[in-house]
Amino acid sequence: MNDMQDAHERVEHVRKLYAQGVRLLDTECIFRIEDIVSGVRKGFLDYRRGSGPNSVELFDIAVEERRTGRGRSLVDTLIKHCASAGIKRIYAIARAENRIAGEFYEALNFRAVPLYDFYGVRTENGDRTVDAVMYVRDLEQYP
Ligand SMILES: CC(C)(COP(=O)(O)OP(=O)(O)OC[C@H]1O[C@@H](n2cnc3c(N)ncnc32)[C@H](O)[C@@H]1OP(=O)(O)O)[C@@H](O)C(=O)NCCC(=O)NCCS
Repeated sequence: MNDMQDAHERVEHVRKLYAQGVRLLDTECIFRIEDIVSGVRKGFLDYRRGSGPNSVELFDIAVEERRTGRGRSLVDTLIKHCASAGIKRIYAIARAENRIAGEFYEALNFRAVPLYDFYGVRTENGDRTVDAVMYVRDLEQYP
């Protein structure tokens, strides 16, 4: 299963839960920006309302062809949309071992906030560790 299918199935799973009456909000919760070329989906970005005031969580992004600017373009679209809606902050959480995600978000002016024991990963010694990173983009700082 590739990243696109995996992420797509996770979103479909959440949608099914909502269809069965499990609802977090009365309004639509998940939003998607798609990169479609000649009717073919080349990438997508999923986001939802964030946990803080005026914030948005970018919780999934994947592209078919890497390093062609598709990821940057999807995030730029989200930033423009959020800025016009008065959103102050966008954040994303990725596994600490996902170095590509780290390079990507940092190239897009997100700052990295290490998260200790977020996913419950243990070291070989059974110790808790920084297993996730939150990437934060302040729209007022870098509009
Ligand atoms: C993360 C992801 C969406 C990036 O999309 P992309 O279209 O390949 O990224 P872009 O081409 O827009 O890259 C923008 C910048 O990010 C950085 N970057 C992206 N991929 C990188 C890599 N593999 N290594 C180093 N830097 C990278 C570069 O600075 C790049 O600019 P440049 O190409 O001019 O040097 C893509 O790698 C992906 O689909 N990954 C699998 C899913 C995933 O892990 N998602 C993130 C966690 S939710």
